[in-house]
Amino acid sequence: MGQIDTNREQWGSRLGFILAAMGSAVGLGNIWRFSYVTGENGGAAFLLIYFFFIIFIGIPIVMAEFTIGKRAQSDVVGSFEEIAPGKPWVIAGFMGVASAFIILSFYGVIAGWTVRYFIHYLTGGITVENDAQYVDVFLNFITNPLQPLLWQFLFMALTIGIVYVGVKKGIEKTNKILMPLLAILVIILAGYSLTLGGASDALSFLFTPDWSKLSDPNVYLAALGQAFFSLSLGMGALITYGSYLSKKEKLPGAAASVAALDTVFALIAGLMIFPAVFAFGIQPDEGPGLVFIALPSIFDNMAYGTLFGGVFFFLLAVAALSSSVSLLEVAVAYFIRKFNWTRQKTTIIIGGIIFIIGVPSSLSQGNWSHITFFGASILDSMDFIASNILLPLGGLLIALFVGWGWKKSDALEASDFGDTLLGNSWIFILRYFAPIAIFIVFLASIGVF
Ligand code: PFF
Repeated sequence: MGQIDTNREQWGSRLGFILAAMGSAVGLGNIWRFSYVTGENGGAAFLLIYFFFIIFIGIPIVMAEFTIGKRAQSDVVGSFEEIAPGKPWVIAGFMGVASAFIILSFYGVIAGWTVRYFIHYLTGGITVENDAQYVDVFLNFITNPLQPLLWQFLFMALTIGIVYVGVKKGIEKTNKILMPLLAILVIILAGYSLTLGGASDALSFLFTPDWSKLSDPNVYLAALGQAFFSLSLGMGALITYGSYLSKKEKLPGAAASVAALDTVFALIAGLMIFPAVFAFGIQPDEGPGLVFIALPSIFDNMAYGTLFGGVFFFLLAVAALSSSVSLLEVAVAYFIRKFNWTRQKTTIIIGGIIFIIGVPSSLSQGNWSHITFFGASILDSMDFIASNILLPLGGLLIALFVGWGWKKSDALEASDFGDTLLGNSWIFILRYFAPIAIFIVFLASIGVF
């Protein structure tokens, strides 16, 4: 339980913390978002940039978030106030809470779709006369005004239930069992998908870069946004999780393992989805519906496909749940402290508000599809603002905070790196490389170059 002087909870173990951080990272971002964003941005060239950002920007900022949380032992806003009282860095904390509201609002919508697909397979699967009908099944569902809302509501209720029970019992337990299962299933499905006949097209799409794409600034912004989204980075989810770690626990290693697992998951998901995309003549730039169209094609063609489909969508929904829980926890941890409410009351109120904020995103797939911003639906706009703007901006501030706002020796000590080559390289990246790179990507995407 918490330390003597506070009521804050703590993880049961360091492993529990790492698994929870992995649970937060691995989610719809690795399968749903990764595949459609990779598809829209042309494949291999996008992937190269994505990997580069994960290694040189993502991992150092993951480490920065863990360090801040573990040192401050507070929520995302409180952590900045604790380490740098009276300084403007706390703005990053408020941006984090805002991002949690925005991301979870549409995350709940997509997660609701996965729950719906799980139920499809539980009740006999999706049967169609020709492959094109997978699109119809999907569109009929998401354009319905009421149905997706019900599944979104159900998913949000589950998220609220876990956060209500608390960090250790609720969050830590679920991750330990279901994450490994999802990994095994995705590997099996990738293996099968690669036999479908689209393998060579998929492999060249994923691994043979079209270098001309490197001149498109939007590919960089998309890769940056995807790196932040997938790592749960830039909004204090990892600060919040780090804050439930006892000060005794050592950090280095955790950041790299979380990022490595997250990236491997996405890659294998790519190997599962793109062979099917090419085998069944689906457009890789189909957009957010990509997995909901490609995966049913796989399941329909394989032996025991209904069973595999059911297990797959169940595990995907669970992976989404361990991510949505971390999103809700960012906001709940803040409001518990801020208003001195109980965890239970805070969770229900904040979770309820986020569900309501998500309703327009859900409706934007059907009746409200005429409402667009720069041509994008409400759901896509929410995703764009949060993932491509707020998260990288939050990450930029976090990097600057640890690099410049904190005394170097204190940051090195808090990170457990100490005054080592690795520690000094980390500080260098946070001070110069990461902020400048993010800034350049922003400038390029608004057409400055
Ligand atoms: N990383 C999660 C995913 O890939 O599905 C999404 C996410 C969770 C983003 C938590 C941000 C966050 F704070």
